[in-house]
Amino acid sequence: MPKLKVVTFGCQANELDSARIVGLLARDGYTLTDDESEADLIILNGCSIRDKAEQKLYSRLGTLRALKARRPNLRLGVAGCLGQREGETLRRRFPYLDLVVGNGEHLVEIPRLLSAAAVRLSSAAIPPTGFFPADVEVHRDSRYRAWVGVMEGCDNFCTFCVVPHTRGRERSRPPDEILGEVAALRDRGYREITLLGQTVNSYGLKLEPPVSFAALLRRIDRVVGPYVRVRFATSHPKDVTAELAEAMASLPSVCPHMHLPIQSGSSRTLARMGRTYSREEYLDKVQLLRAAVPDLSLTTDIIVGFPGESDKGFEETLSLMREVGFDAAFAFKFSPRRGTPAADFPDQVPDSVRAERLAAVLSLQDELSLRKNGKWIGRRVEVLVDCELSKRGSGLAGGRTRQNKIVHFTGGEVEEGTLANVQITGGTSHHLKGVLIPSL
Ligand code: SAH
Ligand code: SF4
Ligand code: F3S
Repeated sequence: MPKLKVVTFGCQANELDSARIVGLLARDGYTLTDDESEADLIILNGCSIRDKAEQKLYSRLGTLRALKARRPNLRLGVAGCLGQREGETLRRRFPYLDLVVGNGEHLVEIPRLLSAAAVRLSSAAIPPTGFFPADVEVHRDSRYRAWVGVMEGCDNFCTFCVVPHTRGRERSRPPDEILGEVAALRDRGYREITLLGQTVNSYGLKLEPPVSFAALLRRIDRVVGPYVRVRFATSHPKDVTAELAEAMASLPSVCPHMHLPIQSGSSRTLARMGRTYSREEYLDKVQLLRAAVPDLSLTTDIIVGFPGESDKGFEETLSLMREVGFDAAFAFKFSPRRGTPAADFPDQVPDSVRAERLAAVLSLQDELSLRKNGKWIGRRVEVLVDCELSKRGSGLAGGRTRQNKIVHFTGGEVEEGTLANVQITGGTSHHLKGVLIPSL
């Protein structure tokens, strides 16, 4: 049996694509290995969102080249958004690559490329337009947590972002197909399903007839009942509606958490980013959600040092963070991406300033997260037990609350994938601490 290792760079969409690659190659007899030294095929599933993501993959390729020199039968491939965007360059720069392929439905080319005699570059330099075939079983490495892709691509063309160029136009899977996949996961005992899309809450607006994301959530809730947790990512502020807030508030399966990237607190910067909402409109959406959904946790993405971002503009990001009080934030230094408008904006911010601003955002968020987490002390929460989050050395079990907060807790043995009731006794900026409440 040939052995396969897949290394994922990038976001959850790439994680899902990796699971698709494994499922696809399982049909040709490949089994998974973690050990590079015994792999027959290593595929790096690459990300192009920031320069750093690309560099990480390039340096990994350098190491693998040495391995391949010792083991000539080892085959190496690059897939994903990086393969999609940089196919020709990769082949030129790393001639020892056996295969380069894009993302999404282009992945189905992998078996053909592996058996081809010479040219191993995917024919598809154009971004995907369809869907990965539903009849290929996606590999699931968890028996209780699963991702379900509901839409692909993005039409927003934010001026800094490569995603519309790598993943193509926005398209939604038919609801019945999604419901079928969700029902199968329910039947196999899955406890948590995360619906994935670049702007997941824009789901279905272009279907014929249109189906709103809230309507999809209602249909999913009817399929899974209250026993499965339903999450979704990533949401775009422009498509947060009263209907969605109401669905989150009323559907027992849907978790009270939203990842809602703001990017900047300055309306001027937001306009230059092409985000299509202002600071005030974002705050209105937050209010709408919080009024409807008790204990909602809100997380976000922030870009610092976008071209033209003044000290004052940056201060507005800090003040927005304070005003909203995010539960957590991912912050990034602006990274100019070739082919996107912002890369050519004249007023680029020096890297030293970007670095200072990043440090300021991270330090403020630490403070805010600590304060937010402190509010949970004394409360009881439901935790989905997850061994990856346990701290084995110190005997602490781990898991996540419905708000997606990490909890470390003491007080007894619990089985992975089960729900535990935990009394919260403390918190850091990163996680909550607690004690298991024994079930009666
Ligand atoms: N679809 C999501 C974002 C996907 S990309 C949305 O619209 O919210 C994930 C995050 O990477 C973005 O939210 C943004 O914060 C960051 N990002 C994207 N392009 C970037 C760039 N050129 N430089 C720095 N960060 C970037
Ligand atoms: Fe990129 Fe903007 Fe689309 Fe998000 S909404 S994937 S940031 S273009
Ligand atoms: Fe990266 Fe592609 Fe995701 S560029 S962030 S892997 S959509």
